[in-house]
Amino acid sequence: MIVGTQWGDEGKGKIVDIFTKYADMVVRYQGGANAGHTIVVDGVKTVLHLLPSGILHEGVKCLIGNGVVLDPEVCIEEVNLLKSKGLLKNDSNLVISLNAHVVMPYHKLIDKLREESAGKGKIGTTGRGIGPCYEDKITRTGIRVADMIDPARLKERLNEVLLQKNSYIEKVLGHEPVSLDEIFKKYSEFGSVLKKYAKDAVDILNDAIEAKKNILFEGAQGTALDVDHGTYPFVTSSTTIAGGACSGSGVGPTAIKHVMGIAKAYTTRVGSGPFPTEQDNEIGERLRKNGGEFGATTGRPRRCGWLDLALLKRSKVLNGLTLLAITKLDVLTGFEKIKVCTEYDAKGDPVYIELDGWQEDLSRVRSMDELPPNAKKYIEFMEKSLGVKVALVSVGPERGSDVIVQNPLWRKFGETQH
Ligand code: IMP
Repeated sequence: MIVGTQWGDEGKGKIVDIFTKYADMVVRYQGGANAGHTIVVDGVKTVLHLLPSGILHEGVKCLIGNGVVLDPEVCIEEVNLLKSKGLLKNDSNLVISLNAHVVMPYHKLIDKLREESAGKGKIGTTGRGIGPCYEDKITRTGIRVADMIDPARLKERLNEVLLQKNSYIEKVLGHEPVSLDEIFKKYSEFGSVLKKYAKDAVDILNDAIEAKKNILFEGAQGTALDVDHGTYPFVTSSTTIAGGACSGSGVGPTAIKHVMGIAKAYTTRVGSGPFPTEQDNEIGERLRKNGGEFGATTGRPRRCGWLDLALLKRSKVLNGLTLLAITKLDVLTGFEKIKVCTEYDAKGDPVYIELDGWQEDLSRVRSMDELPPNAKKYIEFMEKSLGVKVALVSVGPERGSDVIVQNPLWRKFGETQH
């Protein structure tokens, strides 16, 4: 399992892409089109918001679990994009859980209107309707993929829920009501396109486990955005920690062999909310520029700051991390001194230690021994402070610009080499 240990944007897409080579199946289990996974192959950038990034590998089955909120419009766009690139030749390689909830136009509208009226208290959501969709799931007024692909059922559900929705949209948010006929027309069409992918994902996933296939769970967002354990209320509306993968896809926790936490070598955050190590100054600007820190989904400039080990220690326990992957180490090249937050003081302010920086270009480094001594010390300091083994260090955006120390998918659980 691969999870973000910070506020999302840790570079999970790239790491998933690396390990997918050794996987038979990739599973997404929470979040929706609020995610943005950027993968660069042969200099060509592909950004996926909804489909597991494993879909870029031929022959890998990709599952969208019940815990995901599925925007069918984005899903169809991505399917078409992949097909235009000659990918996803075999439609059976994409499976969408019948139980996944569907993001409806009124979810996006409510998300947007609430943010606009929230003023200073706004969360800074991605505007993708994520919160309102999960809200309906919990209040049992949601529309699921199984409903969307059955026109009679879709109409019945829309009839049941739209009265309430429109009353809220008109009376509380002061906006025109949404039209049942328009939504029905659009969504029944989406349903007819996506029907071939909609299946009982639990059976498919557990059959693969039974058959000892290599399965990769791809987390979206990050630990500090978890609805329970994150910086509430400035969080996303799903369970982003490792435990969410079980309920969000339908596997028992005993099936999970490794949890790899992805940590950027520094910290970023998009949207509002606490960020103890934020550098709202030249340092932050330098990190943003060197790291290309602009949101993959919204294009917003990301807030940037130093590495926060106090946050990562919390992530370690919340996720039960067994391995760590450190991304974007190259972005720190050129800093004379690098600060790292090791704990918070009684007031909650970060306490820093200062490490020596390095000036050498890292882009061609492929082993730990090739790292400049201070870069190596930085990694070792992280590893020692957290007590989690570093499995991978990423030194550039391209496929291949990584140091791979340990590959948990290399062997099919003790069988022959993949
Ligand atoms: P929502 O998920 O759109 O409701 O947004 C809630 C919060 O989560 C906001 O601060 C977003 O910026 C943040 N967020 C949601 N998805 C991502 C992501 O993929 N990366 C980073 N931040 C995200």
